[in-house]
Amino acid sequence: MIRTIKNCCSRWRLKGRAASLLLAVLLLAALTGCRAGEDRKNSALRVGVALYTQDDTFISTIVQDLERMVQEAESEKDLKINLFTADGRSNQTTQLEQVDRFLAKGCDVLCVNVVDRTAAAVIVDKAEEAGVPLIFFNRQPVAEDIQRWERIYYVGASAQEGGTIQGQIVLDAWTEDQEKLDRNGDGVLQYVMLEGEPGHQDTLLRTEYSVKALTDAGVEVEKLASDTANWNRGQAAAKTAQWLTEFAGQIEVVFANNDDMALGAIDAFHEAGLELPMVVGVDATAPALEAVKTGELSGTVLNDAQGIARAMLDLVLELTAGRDPADTMDIVEDHYIWLPYQRVTLENWEDVRKR
Ligand code: BGC
Ligand code: CA
Repeated sequence: MIRTIKNCCSRWRLKGRAASLLLAVLLLAALTGCRAGEDRKNSALRVGVALYTQDDTFISTIVQDLERMVQEAESEKDLKINLFTADGRSNQTTQLEQVDRFLAKGCDVLCVNVVDRTAAAVIVDKAEEAGVPLIFFNRQPVAEDIQRWERIYYVGASAQEGGTIQGQIVLDAWTEDQEKLDRNGDGVLQYVMLEGEPGHQDTLLRTEYSVKALTDAGVEVEKLASDTANWNRGQAAAKTAQWLTEFAGQIEVVFANNDDMALGAIDAFHEAGLELPMVVGVDATAPALEAVKTGELSGTVLNDAQGIARAMLDLVLELTAGRDPADTMDIVEDHYIWLPYQRVTLENWEDVRKR
């Protein structure tokens, strides 16, 4: 109850006598039924979900999964959950205002897909001051910010693992049929790399570890070109079209940090009327699975949107019921929930789509 009272009251910044009076009223409200424990059943939970942008295929998939799971949870359990989403439009200032609004609305938990992963501290401080637990997802804040308060969590997939699996798909193709992949027969794998947003953990680590999987296995590689296309299909198509004028016929593999950019590269090859090289992505979005099915996309790596949504909802339910999520969930170093990646190729795309 003490924590409940603190949570209720810390949402208000008050001064002087008016403050004492209001404080007394709030204390009374807390003692007679501030939202928690048994009363939780009778009142709707409020969950604020702040997105870096709504205009991102993978992020929209997470949100759709979360909305569906919330509906299922509402009908299975006797509760009501109000999910509020906000589009940060890739602007950290806009997102901070949205976080303020969520807190002013009395949200019980915030889920934040932070625009700038180096700027999470201010969001942590706001949440802590209001006593509202905070779940970051997909865009990983730096460790010091996560450790600022014990009620902060991060839900996501380990970027390094995603890169390694992507590299292994290419390595296996090279091992199985080197002649097919090594178009110019020089024994070296010529590649281009389409990178996500600069500074994003998935950009840095997928870029590094995809190539490392090959070089660790002794494959000699040559980078023809590498540049950001900001996770975006159109930008990736434009970038690839530019590379095609410089390296037409030389590109043996296109690594893309995500599926949207892999599909953009495929668009550019089609547009130029050129035969596709090996193209690999990450995410296993619905359009990417279609492209795996037709063989245009040689492989992708499942970035578990459903798993991320499920873990967020489970955290929300545990935290708002006043339980310690660590009792029922696998939480690493008190803050992290890691979802495994999975290799996706022609052999298993259908199983992945059916999930
Ligand atoms: C996904 C990208 C997405 C990005 C957004 C990554 O994990 O693979 O598709 O654009 O997250 O933060
Ligand atoms: Ca070659």
